[in-house]
Amino acid sequence: MNEIIKLDANELAYPLTEMQIDFLTSKIDLTALNRYPEADASKLIKSYADFMNLPAEKVIAGNGSDEILDLIFKAFTEPKDIVVSLDPSFVMYETMSSIYKCQFRRYQPNDYYTLDVDAFIEYLDILKPRLVFICNPNNPTGALIAPDSIKKILAATDAQVVIDEAYGEFISANYEDYSVKSLIDAFPNLIVLKTLSKAYGLAGLRIGFGISCAENMEKLYACKYPYNISRLSQAIGVLLMTPEFKEISEKNRLKIIADRGTLTTALKAYEFLKVYESNSNFVWFKVDGKTLSNEVFFNTLYNSGIKIRQFSQSYFKDYFRVTVGTESENKILLKCIDEMTSVGDTMLRKAVGQ
Ligand SMILES: Cc1ncc(COP(=O)(O)O)c(C=O)c1O
Repeated sequence: MNEIIKLDANELAYPLTEMQIDFLTSKIDLTALNRYPEADASKLIKSYADFMNLPAEKVIAGNGSDEILDLIFKAFTEPKDIVVSLDPSFVMYETMSSIYKCQFRRYQPNDYYTLDVDAFIEYLDILKPRLVFICNPNNPTGALIAPDSIKKILAATDAQVVIDEAYGEFISANYEDYSVKSLIDAFPNLIVLKTLSKAYGLAGLRIGFGISCAENMEKLYACKYPYNISRLSQAIGVLLMTPEFKEISEKNRLKIIADRGTLTTALKAYEFLKVYESNSNFVWFKVDGKTLSNEVFFNTLYNSGIKIRQFSQSYFKDYFRVTVGTESENKILLKCIDEMTSVGDTMLRKAVGQ
């Protein structure tokens, strides 16, 4: 089999360029690896905060934004607290709730996609959760909630509200308009999550950030281990904020946004797929089980070396999420779907042994 085409984890499709690798190799100092890194990654935070036009004291760095999620649970929850998120959304909110023995509750938007903000606020009012997680744009649906609606939610609840903007850079060319990071002082119950794992293409480095008011920063820092980000990750992270890197990240980001459009249009051409508009680097769609069963669809792609994301809940068995890959990966995916539609379900069932 050819190399696996990995379209299941929403990573950036492009590796570092040779120029970036040469630049990093020439700048990284390996002679100090006998020393611990800076305990709170202050240089990394300063360069990221400058890049984001934020005061550095309102930013905390984690070993991926997963670590910031962990710190949020440590700092803000007690066992049995209620934690709310949308359904579907990023699986780690539920995983963390389970680790910290909180009660996890799911709120389903209309068609799993469109959030009725007033109804959601009523739900929060009844449940009185400790934490609310909103992934915006949402993983896996790609749905986007407007900043005004988020403001409304923040104003209506006493819960700590985490707006996870892991995929925010993929919304559109002017993605900054959709971020709520500028609201952290107006709403002390707001924490914004960011990561270098997606648009910046550095999932392997493990760097994420939390952004919030000074009081929340104090609570989060109180739960953080020193040296949580390795010396190498800190050093590379700082270099990524340099103009050489920013230019390439920007090019990659715009290319993914354009290719998401092309992929969405191509998928929409198949009548047996219901395709949702995405504001991220992936596309969420539903397979009409009458034409092709979900198992046949997934397994045929899998057997052709294409990994996409399926979901464990029975009510999402016909839904899939595919990451926008390189142009050639997207073409291979579409060719495989094309072949499936011409061969048909019965023949494919035999081919995948079902
Ligand atoms: C919505 C969301 N938030 C956070 C993360 C975790 O990102 P990180 O690599 O920064 O831990 C992911 C990873 O897939 C994600 O989808």
